Amino acid sequence: MKKEEYRFGFDVYESSESLPEADKLLLESAREITEVAYAPYSKFLVGAVAKLKNNEIIKGTNQENASYPVGICAERVLLASASMLQTGIPIDTMAIAYHNLNGESNHPVSPCGMCRQYISEYEDRMKQPIRLILSGMKGKVIVLEKASLLLPLSFGSEDLK
Ligand code: THU
Repeated sequence: MKKEEYRFGFDVYESSESLPEADKLLLESAREITEVAYAPYSKFLVGAVAKLKNNEIIKGTNQENASYPVGICAERVLLASASMLQTGIPIDTMAIAYHNLNGESNHPVSPCGMCRQYISEYEDRMKQPIRLILSGMKGKVIVLEKASLLLPLSFGSEDLK
């Protein structure tokens, strides 16, 4: 038996003001787009904005449904659009922001497990890491150099071979 360990690092900024300019703009856009989330049930509005390697921008917001499990997270709405509209183009950076109408929106949250799986496979498909910028409407910002850092020991397409 041997022990293995998994560690990863990430950057924490006190606010969006101290981000590099391009990241700040992407996060501002993610914050703005929360306004068009369709989240009448949770009132937890999520906006995701990605900059692709060809500099195109793709956006997504969460889309809920009266049949709750039918709802889709902002990240997967974005990635499905990117796959369709910018086929084969890797994503450089994705900013994800939320606006919690029932509470505070002042600390970063990270993608849910299902989205981690989806983002991770997108990285694998495009053979490019996706940087993540995570924040609420204000306050601290987390920047990760590679989304799949959030999914250690993941299940992937290789496992089906
Ligand atoms: N949600 C997202 O869109 N992305 C996340 O990373 C976390 C959760 C959505 C799903 C649901 O519409 C609402 O936020 C509350 O869970």
